[in-house]
Amino acid sequence: MIEDQSSSVRRINLNSELEKDFSYTTGQILSSMNCQAEKNAREIFIQYLESNLGDPALFPGTKNIEAYVIGILGRFFDLPENGTGLVLAGGSEANITAMWAIRNNERKKTTHSHSHPLEILAPQSAHISINKAIDLLNLKLVSIPVTDKYQIDIKKAKRSISSQTIGVVGVAGTTAFGTIDPLLELNELCLENGLPLHIDAAFGGMVFPFLPNSIDYNLSFELKSLVSMTVDIHKMGRVPIPGGGLLWRDKSYAQAIEFTLPYLAGHPRQNTLSGTRSGASSVAFAYLWEILGFKGFQTEVERCIQNTKFLAGELVKRGFKIPNDPIINILGVQIPDFSSFSQEEFHKVLWDHGWTTSLVNSALRFVIMPATSREHLIKLLHVIDDLMKEE
Ligand SMILES: Cc1ncc(COP(=O)(O)O)c(C=O)c1O
Repeated sequence: MIEDQSSSVRRINLNSELEKDFSYTTGQILSSMNCQAEKNAREIFIQYLESNLGDPALFPGTKNIEAYVIGILGRFFDLPENGTGLVLAGGSEANITAMWAIRNNERKKTTHSHSHPLEILAPQSAHISINKAIDLLNLKLVSIPVTDKYQIDIKKAKRSISSQTIGVVGVAGTTAFGTIDPLLELNELCLENGLPLHIDAAFGGMVFPFLPNSIDYNLSFELKSLVSMTVDIHKMGRVPIPGGGLLWRDKSYAQAIEFTLPYLAGHPRQNTLSGTRSGASSVAFAYLWEILGFKGFQTEVERCIQNTKFLAGELVKRGFKIPNDPIINILGVQIPDFSSFSQEEFHKVLWDHGWTTSLVNSALRFVIMPATSREHLIKLLHVIDDLMKEE
């Protein structure tokens, strides 16, 4: 018999727990790549929460909407006709799924030794989800140093390729500073060595296509070695969590990780880590796209980048150092030499004042999302000025 255990569970006050949380609406969250979802997207998301993309016989319309979203994202990056993709729980799931497909496709090749681990090359700047994938898939990570521009060091990558290498990862919009790897060179390296390239554009995928000089970054399936790309819609795509995205150049990668579900109507095939997965973020993104279109997203991206540049300029005037000029809406800064605060102390004191930043690679990192306006940044600068005066 199952006992009622509710009396033995320590009761907590739900409201007082929730009051401890920060709110995106304050505009003061500068440590996160997520933000308040766009209001229409939020409303639509709630309506379709229970839709299940894992059960397409029940939700054929939502399944088509997922494909429509992949089509919209695919158009930014010249995804070929035979391309396909998935809307997943986030960038981590998308990266893990991409590595899974590459591993399964490549391990069929007889050129690799089966008594040694297969290797993935990724820059030191790669997101930790790549490490998770390596661990789950029994692979070996060959971590490539980055240059002073915080981009993969191509020469070092070249020297690190071995007969066990099965794939290369590049990043478009690094988690730390928003930098982008030299994708043309990465593509050449992969073509010379017959290797598949995966690009993690979890954050940058909804930013770079909207820049006036987007073409300069070569974030496109025109790169012939590019087999997959992560593009999240719950970051700058402004739909509620969870909303990741994975694009594949062709269906063979999706098929490499396909399983049939014998107990569901129609015996659907799944190539996802999760079985049941909500279609709400796909529906929300599709509607949001109809409302805002390319221009609407572009305006928001421009606003975030202008705000980032404004903050950078103001901090430089105050003696802060900016190791790399921001190219998108992520900024890394170092505290002035004359300050008696250490970087860690300054980070902590900003949190104490309700401004959340993060510390990455010995820099204070600010992510300027749509919820943070110019007025918020002016308030932040007043706080910083007061702190500097108090020293
Ligand atoms: C470049 C990059 N890839 C992947 C991820 C993981 O995304 P998620 O947190 O949605 O799993 C992040 C998150 O910050 C990221 O910056």
